[in-house]
Amino acid sequence: EKGSYAHYMLKEIDEQPIVIRRILEKYQGENEDILIDPNIRIGMNQADRIYIIAAGTSYHAGLVGKGYLEKLAGIPTEVHIASEFNYNMPLLSENPFFLFISQSGETADSRAVLVQIKRMGFPTMTITNVPGSTLSREADFTLPLYAGPEIAVASTKAYTAQLAVLALLAADIAIYKGLKLDFNFKQEMAIVANAIETLCDQKDRFRELSQEYFTNTRNAFFIGRSADYYVAMEGALKLKEISYIQAEGFAGGELKHGTIALIEDGTPVIALVTQNNVDGLIRGNVQEVVARGAHPMVISIEGQEEKGDTCTIPAVHEILSPLVSVVPLQLLAYYAALQRNCDVDKPRNLAKSVTVE
Ligand code: F6R
Repeated sequence: EKGSYAHYMLKEIDEQPIVIRRILEKYQGENEDILIDPNIRIGMNQADRIYIIAAGTSYHAGLVGKGYLEKLAGIPTEVHIASEFNYNMPLLSENPFFLFISQSGETADSRAVLVQIKRMGFPTMTITNVPGSTLSREADFTLPLYAGPEIAVASTKAYTAQLAVLALLAADIAIYKGLKLDFNFKQEMAIVANAIETLCDQKDRFRELSQEYFTNTRNAFFIGRSADYYVAMEGALKLKEISYIQAEGFAGGELKHGTIALIEDGTPVIALVTQNNVDGLIRGNVQEVVARGAHPMVISIEGQEEKGDTCTIPAVHEILSPLVSVVPLQLLAYYAALQRNCDVDKPRNLAKSVTVE
């Protein structure tokens, strides 16, 4: 039920703090440990490489998840688009572990890969919002997202739930391997939930920004580096799928290798600036597009903002910032679609779950 909300999408954006807290609760074991089937951590720890398979928004979550599995758990990880992997399979490592990420658990492209991988005899797990779905039943293991039903076609709370569960999984393996996390996972995730809440309380601001940037534009670019690049891709997908504005997410450093040719007077360029080691570089990229007439929107971290930045997100542990920085992009997309009289919850040509290859 959408209750007082005009659209499911806005309701689902607002539910994200609750979902994060619910995930922490559901996966909270006795004492401080994480409640995950021990066979999962054993299986993943035995793997020499993790292959993440997904589509769309879930693929974008996988890209962030790769960072968690490599940086926290120390396991080399590759991320693949399901429909590509299936017909152009890379050379596999000796002991791969396959991780399927799917909100619906019914995506045919991902299922086709799962069928093939099972035939090859490799271990498989599905991270899904629908336990009992096809991908969940057919994989060896399942980790539920506990996001509650996601009705809007554009995925929002499932994405943040996927990031939360991937971070939790990586933290669990790290602890199992005896690696030291440099932060208290539960505490930092609680800060993330609060940060999302703070942003959800600033809807008027994002409605105004959306009006200012997207009312009369044909296209828009989202840029970032490192993890911000992956969130930029997700922000672009949200905007294009519900507002039909042509939007692309780019790695900041790639702009000058071609895409910058598209920048004209007034072209919106949304830049995410949350990763310390590339802060100066992405700001440099913003200067480059501004010099060519772009209309920049810089989203940085509270306390680290520079003069002229458009808005900030509350400070959270750097590795978890994608869970927070995606929220302004979701809200911007929502209001852009609304202003353009688009059918927010049911965009044209799209289905909630894509059950054909
Ligand atoms: C975008 C969106 C789609 C899905 C994709 C995969 O907002 O919802 O890109 O993410 O179709 O779906 P699942 O996660 O159900 O496998």
